[in-house]
This record gives sequence, C-alpha cells and structure tokens, in this order.
Amino acid sequence: MKLIVVENYEELSKVAAQEYANVIKENPKAVLGLATGGSPIGMYKELIKMYENKELDFSNVTTVNLDEYVGLNPEHEQSYRHFMNENLFKHINVDITKTFVPNGLAEDLAAQCKEYDEKIKELGGIDVQLLGIGNNGHIAFNEPDTELSAGTHVISLTQNTIEANARFFDNIDDVPKTAITMGVGGIMKAKKIILIASGESKAEAIKGIFSGKITTENPASMLQMHRDAVVIVDKDAAKLLNY
Ligand code: PGA
Repeated sequence: MKLIVVENYEELSKVAAQEYANVIKENPKAVLGLATGGSPIGMYKELIKMYENKELDFSNVTTVNLDEYVGLNPEHEQSYRHFMNENLFKHINVDITKTFVPNGLAEDLAAQCKEYDEKIKELGGIDVQLLGIGNNGHIAFNEPDTELSAGTHVISLTQNTIEANARFFDNIDDVPKTAITMGVGGIMKAKKIILIASGESKAEAIKGIFSGKITTENPASMLQMHRDAVVIVDKDAAKLLNY
C-alpha cells in the first residue's frame, strides 16, 4: 500500500485528480469507480478543470458508483445520482448512459444488487476505484460489523454514519436508514484503489489501515490486502501515523 501525505485538502484534491487523469490518459476507455461525500468534491473540481483545459477527455469512459440511499429518487438533492450529476457529470463530456449508480428505488432490491455486480463484470471490472472513509472506518457503506458482505448488498446505516451524513439534510430524521452498497469483495476486485481522507476526524480510521491488522471492525483495514492501493491523506488525517 502506498501512502501519500499532503499539506491540505486542496493538495489532496490535485494529487487524487492527477492519479485519475493518469489512468484515463493511459486507457481512454477506463471504467472509473467513483464516490460521493465531501472528500471527492475538490478532486472532481480538478478533473472538470482538466476537461475544460482540454487535457482530459471523458467521452469513452464508463463510471460506476459505490452506493446509493434506498428510497431517494434520482432527482432528490441528496441522492448520490444527483450528487454525481451536479458535481461531475454535467460538467464533463461523459456519456450519461455510461454512468452507473445503484437504483435505490428498485422494487426488488436484491435483484438490483445482483444486476449491479453483473454489470461491473460485464464492463470488465473497475480500473480504478475511488474511496472516501467514514470516521468509523467504513468504505462505501460497508459499516464496521462482525462480518462483511463481499457483493453488492443492502445495508442498515449505523447511527454514527446517520449522524455524520445529517449535515447534508434539513433534519437528521430525513437521512435514509438503508442503502445499497458495493461490498468489500467488489471493491477489492478493482485493479487500483485510491482512498482519500482529510481532517482530524478521519485520523483514527486511517491509523487502522496501517495497523498491520485486518478487522471487519475497520472495513478499510482490508485494503492492506490489495496489490495497488494508494492512500492519499492530508496532515490532519495522518496525525496518528508514523511516516
Ligand atoms: P465524507 O464521507 O467524504 O463526506 O467525509 C466519507 C465516507 O463516509 O465514506
């Protein structure tokens, strides 16, 4: 696992965007695994800038997102489909029909999960997967537990995650209690993984990634088994690491 410690969020966003740019330049048809949340917004802005400066062409890429809330329609301001459209897709030349986000409104959620994994397989797998990390070590919505699921599945969000995400909603009661998420097995199958974290609230979870121990209580600790995982953190998130 490679660790890159940078000064601040701005630098983190630039370094992470550059990693993605390198993948796209090398393979214009790359399958890009994308994430939502506060962490990737700066990186997406950098990618948009590169597109505007004609340094990057998204016309042949396919994108696959990690997760989606159950019960929010795609137009809902807090749905992850809406997030992706607003923060990235509508500003670049990606073919929107080649952008995939789980459907949180599917009548048969189990079938939707299965289809999602099949779709990723059909695409030939994910070339690079972006991850944020929860304060509790979750990746996508794989919450700390005594066991983790390999494939895409429906999960109940922990109170910790509901509280952390309440900042995006008018009221904490509006935060959905369940989500569809890619499983840790699906994430680990990505050829390359880039995890980004900024701020002191992530320091404990980041420490867990470099602990030398793998535990389902810190799902991100699983990344220690990946052949090509890059962890990009700012100084505050790296606070508990010896580097
Ligand atoms: P954040 O969320 O980027 O909004 O901090 C990360 C996560 O919960 O995975």
